[in-house]
Amino acid sequence: MGAPSFFQEFSVQFQSLAYVCAALLFILALAGLSKQETARRGNLFGIVGMGTALLATILIVLAFDNEPAMSFFLIALAMGIGAAVGIYKAKHVEMTGMPELIALLHSFVGLAAVLVGYNSFFITPGSDSPENAFHMGEVGLAVFIGAVTLTGSIVAFLKLSARIKGSPLTLPGRNWLNLGAIVVSIGLIIWFANTRSVGVGLIPLILLTIIALALGLHLVAAIGGGDMPVVVSMLNSYSGWAAAMAGFTLNNDLLIITGALVGSSGAYLSYIMCKAMNRSFVSVILGGFGTDGGAAGADDRDYGEHRETTAADVAQMLKDARKVMITPGYGMAVAQAQYPVADLTSRLRAQGVDVTFGIHPVAGRLPGHMNVLLAEAKVPYDIVLEMDEVNDDFADIDVVLVIGANDTVNPAAEEPGSPIAGMPVLKVWEAKNVVVFKRSMGNAGYAGVQNPLFFNENSQMLLGDAKATVEQIIAAL
Ligand code: TAP
Repeated sequence: MGAPSFFQEFSVQFQSLAYVCAALLFILALAGLSKQETARRGNLFGIVGMGTALLATILIVLAFDNEPAMSFFLIALAMGIGAAVGIYKAKHVEMTGMPELIALLHSFVGLAAVLVGYNSFFITPGSDSPENAFHMGEVGLAVFIGAVTLTGSIVAFLKLSARIKGSPLTLPGRNWLNLGAIVVSIGLIIWFANTRSVGVGLIPLILLTIIALALGLHLVAAIGGGDMPVVVSMLNSYSGWAAAMAGFTLNNDLLIITGALVGSSGAYLSYIMCKAMNRSFVSVILGGFGTDGGAAGADDRDYGEHRETTAADVAQMLKDARKVMITPGYGMAVAQAQYPVADLTSRLRAQGVDVTFGIHPVAGRLPGHMNVLLAEAKVPYDIVLEMDEVNDDFADIDVVLVIGANDTVNPAAEEPGSPIAGMPVLKVWEAKNVVVFKRSMGNAGYAGVQNPLFFNENSQMLLGDAKATVEQIIAAL
């Protein structure tokens, strides 16, 4: 090979610089996405970072490829198809369809890691060097994590989109099956890393792939529909580690950094969600919790009588109030009540009522669910507060409107022995008046636990679809 051309030298220098910039931009993107006010800017950093990384990678391919025109055509074709599908999906996806789309996208990352692993194995013939064994170990790990992510994400997608039943598959000895699969896979990776020829190496690699595909399928099939959001963020984490392993096999520093960022942020998000639901991460992963949407648990305790109210009475109560807090939950999302809720908020504020929102970290069915809905309906960010910011202030609130929330405002969480014992909740019952919006007294929340709040002296039930009842209140105002 002759001396590198100017274009080749430039591409290499540009790539080093671009990768460092892209890595920094990805970190800034994550930091920006952690707050609503900065989320747009965070997204922009991510887009610029990814654009820079793509440009640098394409330049390197063109500079060192024997057939640059053909390579350019293939890259452009693949990117064009990907962009067309991506833009179409992004424009058409409903907020409620987001988790299933994300699950499907994770499966692509898993598939890519498996393909990169196989490709790397075929183009790097075995040698006796310790480096080769190490490299093959990386390939084995990438294929293993990628295959688990692939089938796990497909099952999560099928469950979330209700194409298969959400109830958990509880095979006898399922935890032992998983453990056995992991132990056998480690053995296969060691065997694979120590083989010296493509012919022999292919046997442990194929066996490893089959076992990992089955493990991913079984792991997620064992988890109930209601726990899927945690599983999606866990698969997000897996897809990050799969990408990082692919980065090792391709010797691509940026892919390693990006994969590690996705892997660790996904793991942290899963941890936060589990903590806010008072479930241990291990209990979610081991599965078996929940039916189609949550745990069932009948409770025949006598809680007394509940009191019902009307939209007109609530309107009057709101007119007389000085401070109002709204604590939305999954029901607001189901009813699509965020627009009338935003309208009600701006009318009350115009009349001088101090209105704030108290958001529980796992209100709804995905992280940030309520924040996204309220932002969509143009509720100002500065009146949307986190649970920890409002939990000591309820005694000072005249009226709390609990709109389609149940578990997240359940005082039973403070009783030892309750299925949700220890779950941090919004202490709405400390307010002077509480109005609960739900469709009927028959249904429990996600955790299937009765809510003593509904029977408190200072609580009133406004039964009906939340969108309709909020609209009736607006009309009465
Ligand atoms: P839930 O406890 O599920 O309660 C939802 C409430 O909304 C119920 O009272 C329901 O009563 C009512 N509702 C449903 N549709 C309605 C409609 N159209 N109009 C009016 N009300 C309606 O919700 P939550 O308080 O938001 O708690 C979330 C739960 O999900 C927690 O247990 C949490 O652990 C779990 N979870 C959350 C996440 C994340 S990340 N957010 C992930 C996994 C699990 P009716 O049916 O009688 O109307």
